[in-house]
Order: sequence, then C-alpha cells, then structure tokens
Amino acid sequence: MHILALHGPNLNLLGVREPAVYGHHTLAEVDAALLQTAAELGVTLRLVQTNHEGICLNEIHLARYPVDGPVMDGILINPGAWTHYSYAVRDALASVGLPTVEVHLSNIYAREAFRQHSIIAPVVVGQISGLGIDSYTLGLRALVQYVRRTTRPDST
Ligand code: DQA
Repeated sequence: MHILALHGPNLNLLGVREPAVYGHHTLAEVDAALLQTAAELGVTLRLVQTNHEGICLNEIHLARYPVDGPVMDGILINPGAWTHYSYAVRDALASVGLPTVEVHLSNIYAREAFRQHSIIAPVVVGQISGLGIDSYTLGLRALVQYVRRTTRPDST
C-alpha cells in the first residue's frame, strides 16, 4: 500500500513556529515518526511539504494519476491554513476520490473562530485534531486500516 503524506504551508517551520501551539517537534521528526509507523504497518510513504497551493494540487492529482510510479491508495494531509479557505484543495481531493485523512497538530476547534471551520472535512474519511505529532501517526494508522477494510473486507 502506498500513502501520500502531504504537509501544507508553514509546516516546514515546525519546531520553531509558535511552539506553544504546535509543539517542539520539527517536520523531520514528524516525518521520522510517520516512516516508523509506516514500516510497522508495512506501507510505503511519499512525504511532501509545500508552501505552494499549485504544487499541493499537483501532488493530489499525481497521487491518483501518476506520470510514473504507483497510484497512491490514500492521502494523509495537514492542509495548514488552506484548511479554512482553499476550495481548490478541497476540489482536488474530491476530484481524485482517494480516501483521505485530515490531521492537525492543534485542536482547531479550540482556537480562533476562523480556524474552527474546515472546508476540507466534508471530502475526507475523517479528521484528527489536537494531538500534536500523534495526530499524524494515529491518522496514518486510521487511514491504512480504512483502506484495508474497504479494499479487502475480510482484513482488519
Ligand atoms: C494546523 C492548524 C491551522 O489552522 C494552521 O493554519 C496550521 C496548522 C495544525 O496542524 O494545527 O498551519 O493545520
């Protein structure tokens, strides 16, 4: 199974960016935790961080319609601030139709009003918000389990 793990804008600054909100883990540490979880689950990861919405859209498209390499089985995404206003990211996810789990380090529902609404949420399988780095690893576990269940109904 192949999973695309996509980090949106400003997440390259994890570790130094508002640590009281986002914690002290760097993006490299988040990716290392994801790779460890992926190895445990027996799945492969493509890890991408971008500050550019168009690149994010291309990655989502390529996950389903690759130029080379495998079609992805699912997407794990922290859309960052795009969560709250990017109809383009939402449309891209809806267009490719791959099972997607949305994750957030912080609890977006306990923050400013503009963060309390995700326009991505209606097009994803589920969302994990507020558990720091664990949001990512739990999100990956949930996504892999979802894909396994829906593609091989006998497996758990
Ligand atoms: C975030 C929450 C967003 O509101 C914010 O814009 C981010 C990070 C999170 O992981 O908590 O960039 O997605």
